[in-house]
Amino acid sequence: MKKEFREILREKNLTALPNVLLASAECAPLSKTGGLADVVGTLPKSLAKLGIDARVITPYHRVIKDKYADRVEHMFDFYCSLGWRQAYVGVEKLVLDGVTIYLIDNEQYFGDKIYRGGQAEGEQYAFFCRAVLDCIPNLDFTPQVLHCNDWHTAMLPMLAKTQYQGGMQAGLKFLLTIHNIAFQGKFGFDYVQDLLNVDSRYYTPEFMELNGCADFLKAGCVFADRINTVSPSYASEIKMPYYAEGLEGILNARSHELSGIINGIDKKVFNPHADKLLPATYDRGHLKGKAVCKAALQERMGLEQRPDMPLVAMVTRMTEQKGFDLVACILDDIMQHEDIQFMLLGSGDERFENFMRAAEYRYKGRLCAYIGYSEELSHLVYAASDFFLMPSRFEPCGLSQMISMRYGTVPVVRQTGGLADSVEPYNRYTGEGTGFGFLNFNAHELLFTTQEACRLYTESPVAWGNLAAQGMAKDFSWRASALEYRKLYRGLFT
Ligand code: ADP
Ligand code: GLC
Repeated sequence: MKKEFREILREKNLTALPNVLLASAECAPLSKTGGLADVVGTLPKSLAKLGIDARVITPYHRVIKDKYADRVEHMFDFYCSLGWRQAYVGVEKLVLDGVTIYLIDNEQYFGDKIYRGGQAEGEQYAFFCRAVLDCIPNLDFTPQVLHCNDWHTAMLPMLAKTQYQGGMQAGLKFLLTIHNIAFQGKFGFDYVQDLLNVDSRYYTPEFMELNGCADFLKAGCVFADRINTVSPSYASEIKMPYYAEGLEGILNARSHELSGIINGIDKKVFNPHADKLLPATYDRGHLKGKAVCKAALQERMGLEQRPDMPLVAMVTRMTEQKGFDLVACILDDIMQHEDIQFMLLGSGDERFENFMRAAEYRYKGRLCAYIGYSEELSHLVYAASDFFLMPSRFEPCGLSQMISMRYGTVPVVRQTGGLADSVEPYNRYTGEGTGFGFLNFNAHELLFTTQEACRLYTESPVAWGNLAAQGMAKDFSWRASALEYRKLYRGLFT
């Protein structure tokens, strides 16, 4: 009888859907520097459709205050300990598009940039982790899963399990999603110990030490109950030293608890059929609007009005991750030998920004380098372009290639991580595929593949049209991935 009762309870536990709190440094549309924000802003909406109450906890950044202050409700406040200091924690609440978002307020840490860089950034997010754990018991919501994202929130499982014994925090289940292993939050141990009271016994290679530093992401990999990343291919890649940035040991040791779930995109935000940010809308089979967008972009950015010329685009953070060094190697080659236009929207490393500014000067009228961040312009670029370059050195998932396919813009990618999982390379014999791909991180491979794309565009418009249409027909919505997350959350309790 007793056994039966246990079985029933177990069954109940398995079928019950846990409440999930996603902790993240950024969340779209409130605060965004890249794809992490898109994921955290969109996934809860899809989980809600599958019966999961998923909410978000994120810093109350300056950019959010400036825009949403009058819609935010103050819930409560208190002081938390950060080493020997006492720091103010305001807990605010905002409901946006059906998703409840808790905002951690502290003017000193979040009154300026989302990421302050260097040590100051360590302090910002050490504070955030402490504030999150201290406020959870008093929220109007009881999570069973704390879903951490990247290094900024990766200390949560370790702190909960080693410093909150007896509290509800220690009973939570922790999922850590790695969006980018290149950023790990590495600081001197003394600094971390001072901020977060971490016991010296955790400063060893089995726990959080890596290359003489205290490593937040490593601590997350050790203490989280499960680890996942944002595409199946990247989940395999990060077990290899080339991609793992020193974490291959722990990730191989826990490979049975590591999985990959590809991201989706928000079909409502990125919808060429109803996009209010475009001068004209369009869909598969009715592409007149796309030509209007191309003309509008050319006019606005000072590019020659040439409907026939292929327009190549990039919308990106300008870093080595995104393969900018390859682009720098081949740019003159393509600009001089191919009849194309080039549109860049991005910001990042100064050397790449300056390189692109100089290129704009050399190829006036055919190349535009818009250095900056603009959500509104990005939609026009995705819609107006013919193909989209993404020659990444590594790419955990990548959303831009999916967005461009949705807008009928053919991606040219290096087949790595999520790019390999989402873009099917064109097969010139069967006509199958959704883009162009090359395998090695090599400038000539990028050059030849870009030239192949240019040739197809100019010489075989019908084949090109089919390729673009095949990309537009792909379903990159969140539903399938949200189902996988639901399985993963449930798996934490078995
Ligand atoms: P990552 O997160 O590594 O930067 P993703 O492809 O996952 O790369 O996501 C990038 C997101 O940020 C996309 O939504 C893209 O459109 C957006 N984005 C990147 N750079 C800019 C920019 N300069 N202006 C506007 N949007 C940008
Ligand atoms: C990171 C990765 C990117 C991924 C995004 C969202 O910024 O660089 O590939 O799409 O996170 O998961």
